Amino acid sequence: MDSYIPQHILVTGGAGFMGSNFVRWVLAHQPFVQITVLDKLTYAGNKANLANLPESRFSFVRGDICDVALVDKLFEKVDACVHFAAETHNDNAIVSSQPFIRTNVEGTRVLLEAARKHNVRFHHISTDEVYGDLALDEPGKITEATPYCPSSPYSASKAASDMLVRAWFRTYGVPVTLSNCSNNYGPYQHVEKFIPRQITNLLSGRRPKLYGDGLHVRDWIYVENHSSAVWEILTKGRLGETYLIGANGERNNLEVMRLILKLMGKKSDEFDWVRDRPGHDRRYAIDATKLQTELGWQPSHTDFEEGLLSTIQWYKDNQEWWASGKQAVEAAYENQGQ
Ligand code: NAD
Ligand code: DAU
Repeated sequence: MDSYIPQHILVTGGAGFMGSNFVRWVLAHQPFVQITVLDKLTYAGNKANLANLPESRFSFVRGDICDVALVDKLFEKVDACVHFAAETHNDNAIVSSQPFIRTNVEGTRVLLEAARKHNVRFHHISTDEVYGDLALDEPGKITEATPYCPSSPYSASKAASDMLVRAWFRTYGVPVTLSNCSNNYGPYQHVEKFIPRQITNLLSGRRPKLYGDGLHVRDWIYVENHSSAVWEILTKGRLGETYLIGANGERNNLEVMRLILKLMGKKSDEFDWVRDRPGHDRRYAIDATKLQTELGWQPSHTDFEEGLLSTIQWYKDNQEWWASGKQAVEAAYENQGQ
């Protein structure tokens, strides 16, 4: 199989949770690749996620992916773009969808136009949520052939962005690939998200919060596995193709909650049941056979308890990273009736 090695990658959203992991992963594993990050530094972006990277191979630009002139200038210098930037939190999209449509849909269109003009290889980071949810007792998993059926404002915006990427491939021949991944976890994840929220609630004397009946299933994958998979797709994936990324990590939220409580030395009932998320997707489950058989990718971190333990340790060791924003996140959740 032919493989393409990019020389200079523009990583959008590289100051966020998964983008910054990808940047650190590439700089550590690919000694000849240069990276420029374009990130708006919204509430979810943090420059500290990119501390101590080699200046000779890494640069940071603060800016918006919807800024046509800036994006055009940056695409002149690179041969690939890996597009992570997005509004990503379902609970926020339910309160206010406008920033999701602007960044996720219009921002992706702006990047695609620049990729078209400068003939830049474009990898689009998307989510399993575009396929909608499975029932708890439904046999089988989501595959690349599953029809799109997004059920939330966030997943609808990501589905729209995927459609744009596919259209720019077919209509203009832009060299694209797409990946749709399940729930990532690990260090540097914003405290609004499920796992870091519960860990930091316990570390700051608050009670963890579980939505609805707690039986919703997510297919957890350690964030470094995502980074290695994206590299395989970027360098070996077939143009125009979608690859699902997952590592057989299905667990319901109650199980995850109880495991966090156990690993942090708490009793299994030391949490609050709170009102459910409107339209809450029941279950996601990824079949990653195509990625494994076609590109030979395998996840290297597969022990969920071990991954959770090291994630808990990271939040214990890095309280200055999360403590300043914690109060505002919990106040916003309180306003939403939790
Ligand atoms: P995140 O919320 O941690 O980070 C998003 C980053 O994008 C932030 O640094 C933010 O400042 C930046 N950003 C937002 N709007 C921008 C704009 N207009 N211009 C430039 N930068 C902007 O997100 P994440 O959890 O790391 O997710 C990254 C990508 O992966 C997203 O596209 C998301 O849809 C997708 N994804 C996430 C998960 C998950 O479990 N977190 C799973 C599958 C797919
Ligand atoms: O599946 C991939 C998606 O995973 C990504 O596309 C999204 O960007 C990412 O945010 C994530 O979406 P979820 O909505 O699944 O993640 P979240 O961490 O918000 O919630 C995970 C599950 O936990 C979900 O069933 C809701 C539940 N939950 C969440 C929070 C914040 C709780 O029970 N309590 C909570 O406090």
